[in-house]
Amino acid sequence: VGRVRVFVVVAPGLERVAADELRSLGVRGRMPSTRGGIEVEFTTRQLYLVHRWSRIATRVLVRVESGPARTFDEIESLVATIAWDAYLRDGGVDGGGVAVHVASQASRLYHEGAIAERVLRVMARPADPDGQRVYVRVDRNRATISIDASGASLHHRTWRTVTHAAPLRPTLAAAMLRIAGYDGTRPVVDPMTGSGTIAIEAASIALALPHDRDFAFQRWPSFETGTWASVTASDPSAPERTSARVFAADRDEGTVAAARVHAAAAGVGELVSIESAPLTRQRWPEQRALVVCNPPYGRRIGERHELSDLYAALGNRVAASGHELCLLAADDRLVRATGLELVEQFATTNGGIGVRCWATPPR
Ligand SMILES: C[S@@+](CC[C@H](N)C(=O)[O-])C[C@H]1O[C@@H](n2cnc3c(N)ncnc32)[C@H](O)[C@@H]1O
Repeated sequence: VGRVRVFVVVAPGLERVAADELRSLGVRGRMPSTRGGIEVEFTTRQLYLVHRWSRIATRVLVRVESGPARTFDEIESLVATIAWDAYLRDGGVDGGGVAVHVASQASRLYHEGAIAERVLRVMARPADPDGQRVYVRVDRNRATISIDASGASLHHRTWRTVTHAAPLRPTLAAAMLRIAGYDGTRPVVDPMTGSGTIAIEAASIALALPHDRDFAFQRWPSFETGTWASVTASDPSAPERTSARVFAADRDEGTVAAARVHAAAAGVGELVSIESAPLTRQRWPEQRALVVCNPPYGRRIGERHELSDLYAALGNRVAASGHELCLLAADDRLVRATGLELVEQFATTNGGIGVRCWATPPR
């Protein structure tokens, strides 16, 4: 079985939880991570399967070549050894155009535009910003050349149509759910749902919904239609009846309307109920549930005082209900205002803001 070396791009901070997700998808072996990605080997089948099922990865790059790159001549001969015909069509519908992304550091070749030009010339393909992405990373005079297998970023979800001020990245919502041990079988409460990201991600897990979209590798000449067909044919069937329910709420009516549109578009409308109510008046399930929450961060001056009441109210409701909590917050003092014992799980960013994920310790 052919294996490919890949770099799975993830949001910095999510490497461990993403590696755990890869293992759950059947990927084995060492998974050394650097900030923002995991190096791993995939079979072709795993490459396809991970695209269909990973909720945490941002994109997957196939490593095609690496070698010394002290001069333009060296980088050109490296590019010339690659069998591009496996990845790029000649002409045809998409014109075979390529978008070359170069990043160089601590190297003699530092002019990224000039590197991109040379690479394109050797590849003999037209430049196309929307074409197949090729990544050239030059680090300490060595180049690594990768080809993007994903196309549009995997954090893109087709259901998101209504603009919302500060939506959570779905990949981050998925990371929170995984770190909290959610497997789709128990009730989830998202009491500050905004555009609905956490609730929809949870329901998609409960209903075993794959990413239903096209990926860049499907346009490669080396695409194995049989392997892809066997991946999609072995999709787990959605549970016939699931006791899992997802309770979402927000005090903002406009946002609740958007979340309902999104849940319907995602095909999870039946599992998710969305209430328009402030935290203190929401009806939460009686059964033991997982509360997954992305409250306002309180970055503006004067906001923290007001928000510490909200975080305290959240802590009180969680303590009174006996539910578990997984919380994303930007300010540790607000986390302490919950009065709950919480354990830090990971640190990352969302919308340019540094955030940490906290969860109830295992009982
Ligand atoms: C950071 S946003 C959540 C974003 C959401 N995760 C998403 O992906 O769109 C915080 C949300 O908390 C809501 N909120 C603030 N105070 C609330 C309260 N007392 N009760 C319920 N919701 C509240 C806001 O209306 C806002 O939608």
